[in-house]
Amino acid sequence: MNSEKGYIMSNPKLLTISGALRKGSFNRMLLAEAADAFGDAEVTQADLNLPLYDGDLEEASGVPAQVQTLASQIAAADAIVISAPEYNKGISGVLKNALDWVSRVEGNVLADKPTVVISAAAGRTGGETAQFMTLSCLAQLQVRLIPGAQVLVAASYEAFDDAGKLKSELDQNALNARMQKLRAEVV
Ligand SMILES: Cc1cc2nc3c(=O)[nH]c(=O)nc-3n(C[C@H](O)[C@H](O)[C@H](O)COP(=O)(O)O)c2cc1C
Repeated sequence: MNSEKGYIMSNPKLLTISGALRKGSFNRMLLAEAADAFGDAEVTQADLNLPLYDGDLEEASGVPAQVQTLASQIAAADAIVISAPEYNKGISGVLKNALDWVSRVEGNVLADKPTVVISAAAGRTGGETAQFMTLSCLAQLQVRLIPGAQVLVAASYEAFDDAGKLKSELDQNALNARMQKLRAEVV
């Protein structure tokens, strides 16, 4: 029940944000699984293929149109799920760049936005460090982080089957629980 609006939201808007750009990204696969686990929703995939943040560019021509689009998608979303790949034990430049740009848009569109961060990475820890760094940046942006058991998909290169489905029941169960928790926040 959304008490502010006074009605039950049956088809919430879910924005999925992948910190990896490549088409075959395992984080994108994980987000597709996350959207399935969330249930009925209007799902939008964010595009983080943005120019690098540059204060001179911002001063000369303002926030780029692609960033404005992303900010509008964030503003319109009822819930967000971010999947963070791990690069050199940290957040991907792509994701950090997007957060930096969005933080420059007038008003804080991320403030109080119900959000879950998950990750898939090649190493044994499933991107835990990247996830931790992402949560730290999001806390600064006053995002409403929905807590729960971490979703850390390790050995990403062998974690999904040919149809892009998670092979591990443990990962799937953790993802289901987390996404249902996110749904309960908004529906
Ligand atoms: C530059 C670079 C650095 C990486 N560093 C790490 C790392 O620190 N820890 C880890 O678990 N995997 C690391 N990886 C592997 C990625 O996590 C893995 O390829 C992951 O699947 C990438 O996400 P994607 O499949 O969504 O593109 C690294 C990959 C690249 C390209």
